[in-house]
Amino acid sequence: MLDRRTLLAAMAVAPIFPAAAKSDHIPLAMEARHVQMLFGCAVRADQIFADRDFQTLVLTECAEITPELELKWDYIEPIKGQYNFSGADALADLAARTQLALHGHTLLWHDAIPPWAIVALEREADWASIERYFVAILPRYQTTVSTWDVVNEPIDVMSGDKGYRTSPFYTAFGPDYVARAFVLARQYAPTAKLFINEYGLVYDTPESRDKRAALIKLIDALKGRSAPLNGIGVQAHLELDQQHHFNADSFAAFLNEIGRRGLEIRISELDVKENQTELMPDQRDERAANAVRDVLAIALSNRAVGTVTSWGLSDRYSWLPEAGGNAGYNRGLPFDTDLEEKSLYRAIRDALRHRQK
Ligand code: XIL
Repeated sequence: MLDRRTLLAAMAVAPIFPAAAKSDHIPLAMEARHVQMLFGCAVRADQIFADRDFQTLVLTECAEITPELELKWDYIEPIKGQYNFSGADALADLAARTQLALHGHTLLWHDAIPPWAIVALEREADWASIERYFVAILPRYQTTVSTWDVVNEPIDVMSGDKGYRTSPFYTAFGPDYVARAFVLARQYAPTAKLFINEYGLVYDTPESRDKRAALIKLIDALKGRSAPLNGIGVQAHLELDQQHHFNADSFAAFLNEIGRRGLEIRISELDVKENQTELMPDQRDERAANAVRDVLAIALSNRAVGTVTSWGLSDRYSWLPEAGGNAGYNRGLPFDTDLEEKSLYRAIRDALRHRQK
């Protein structure tokens, strides 16, 4: 197994995989490093360890990986007290061997609570089970995970309560659970940067305007309590049929609101729901790439944005077909099913190149 440094050195001399065969292909990790940023992607252990070509692509293109499933509570502790660290350990080991940063995703997410814990939260407001999970997971990955999504998707302005999603956490503990989770995470992960990660913030619709406002309010509440919040992950699951709602000025203003509070910003979970099967693949790719160009042009002009994470790297393995609505087969990631670069790769590359150093 080549380590990452050897691999990158070898690539400079002789391209060793199809995507690198084009002479002008520069890995996104390198483009990002050039402007003091990190580029990474979400991966699944079952995919990356079964497919060497895909693994090579990830190790070449990325400076960071995010376990797509393996650190979620329902994956780690499907049965109370019985932990499954196999996938996360394997990814942490890969990251350590190849000098990749590892992003911890995610501690508290309403959609990844093991069934037994939902019952414990709902019936007994059992904070002890949350603490046991944090104790089990945070020290274990202390040397490998540098950033954690402590709370994922806490905002719901449609059917929530005062802007908060009425998740089992909220129902059990009220709005305080967010600050408590950050304090607890800091206790067991003293050096990691701690994030809130949220979706539905990119487009300028009445709902997302409310969502942005609710998130800023939550940030201020946490800061008011001196909760150890280091940054915000702005999920960028773009949708072509929503792209006309993208407003550069209001997105820039929103990112500024976060940045001027001294927080870092991750553009997390970048992908594009497109599925315009009536078009030729090239046209589809161009449209998806344009959406990414528009959003990253604004995002990367903000100095608080330090990381871009693609939610998957190649259409060979994409969560988009299961992403809801009529997502269907999608070409929404930077590399196609043959691991060849697409316009979307070039959109990310160009955005990084345009970033002022
Ligand atoms: C998704 C994974 O990609 C899927 O494979 C899984 O079935 C469900 O979760 N927002 C998030 C991610 O924060 O954790 C989700 O990942 C996608 C939406």
